[in-house]
Amino acid sequence: MFKKLDILDEKDKTLRKISKDVVFPLSKEDKNTIQKVIDELTYSQIEEYAEKYDLRPGMGLAFVQLGILERIIIIVHEVEEGIFDNYVFINPKIVSSSEEIIAAEAGEGCLSVNREVEGHVPRHARVTVEGFDEKGNKIRCRAREDLAIAFQHEIDHLNGILFYDKIDPKKPFYSDSEMRLI
Ligand code: NI
Repeated sequence: MFKKLDILDEKDKTLRKISKDVVFPLSKEDKNTIQKVIDELTYSQIEEYAEKYDLRPGMGLAFVQLGILERIIIIVHEVEEGIFDNYVFINPKIVSSSEEIIAAEAGEGCLSVNREVEGHVPRHARVTVEGFDEKGNKIRCRAREDLAIAFQHEIDHLNGILFYDKIDPKKPFYSDSEMRLI
């Protein structure tokens, strides 16, 4: 049976806390939670299930959004219609990033932010992320474009940062000539 996750709303102060490094081995509970998050993020991006279970589409989640202050992020990236790549990164770190800055043209969303927030969030166009998989093996990913944005968004959560913190109130929007908008 599919049971929806309890995702904290932005008003919850827990989201502003710094998550702690995970010590291996991973608990059974954490493994179960990771699987539930993968399932829900996947369903949320398939219209039929999103409707059936009343899910807002989302491609990423950090454990802190479930009230668990552990440095675990999950990204479910649709690479082709109905085909998803899953990324589970434990204790993730951005080890290098491009000088080029981009932003999602339509702005960003967050499963903890239940309202529209307008504005461009400047992000590195490419990042290399290192971390550990569920078994504690070291992993690394070079991400670009929307996947790079997702990694930066989720890693920010681990440091208590929400996407709109990075929207400049004096200049919330950029033109194409100022920044590459994707
Ligand atoms: Ni978010």
